[in-house]
Amino acid sequence: MLTNQKNKVLVAPSVLAADWSNLEGEIKAVQDAGADLLHLDVMDGSFVPPISFGQDFVRTVKEHAEVPLDVHLMIVNPEKHVQGFIDAGADFITFHIEATAHPHRLVQEIKSKGVKAGIALNPGTSYMLLEPLLQDLDLVLVMTVNPGWGGQNFIKSTIDKIKCISNHRLLPSHTLIEVDGGINQLTSKDCIAHGATILVAGTSVYGTSDYATAITKLRH
Ligand code: DX5
Ligand code: ZN
Repeated sequence: MLTNQKNKVLVAPSVLAADWSNLEGEIKAVQDAGADLLHLDVMDGSFVPPISFGQDFVRTVKEHAEVPLDVHLMIVNPEKHVQGFIDAGADFITFHIEATAHPHRLVQEIKSKGVKAGIALNPGTSYMLLEPLLQDLDLVLVMTVNPGWGGQNFIKSTIDKIKCISNHRLLPSHTLIEVDGGINQLTSKDCIAHGATILVAGTSVYGTSDYATAITKLRH
């Protein structure tokens, strides 16, 4: 399982940006390069326009993974599908607060199955919606782009949200704050300075020829 050393910023390459014709090699390469988790973007064509992949793809990634799987569900009614992703090998399951009427129930359900539970917030969603849930969360995912595609530009106004969450009196000390979208060696600095502890990186890792250097640069 993930060892979260104090003050260590974790890097989670997004497999969405990998070359799927060499999936096993791409997974091994980022792990060898120092990835702490693998981020898996599940899109349903409804919550977000594209359709990416489902449980079978996650199961295939799990076969080659030595680090935990960080599954980001960009799907409507996530409660209908979490069990399938747990069976496929998810270590973290993060769903969007905008996508379900019963986020508290779903967090309890995920945790009761021994999986870490996270909630994601779109750039247009206030962190205040999370207040009643904050004490129960293992992870908060602050979307730093509007979800749906890799390769978009970081939205600067999300920095305030990261700051508000990381300083929140109800945030448990173990709860991770993940940022996702447009994270590169420039934008990661601000995110880390304001409390981010997991950096999701698609283009800024898989879009380069030297994954180890890319991951090292993100952390600093
Ligand atoms: C966007 C996804 C992201 C995406 C990140 O909807 O949630 O995880 O893969 O890609 P980059 O790092 O290229 O912005
Ligand atoms: Zn994501």
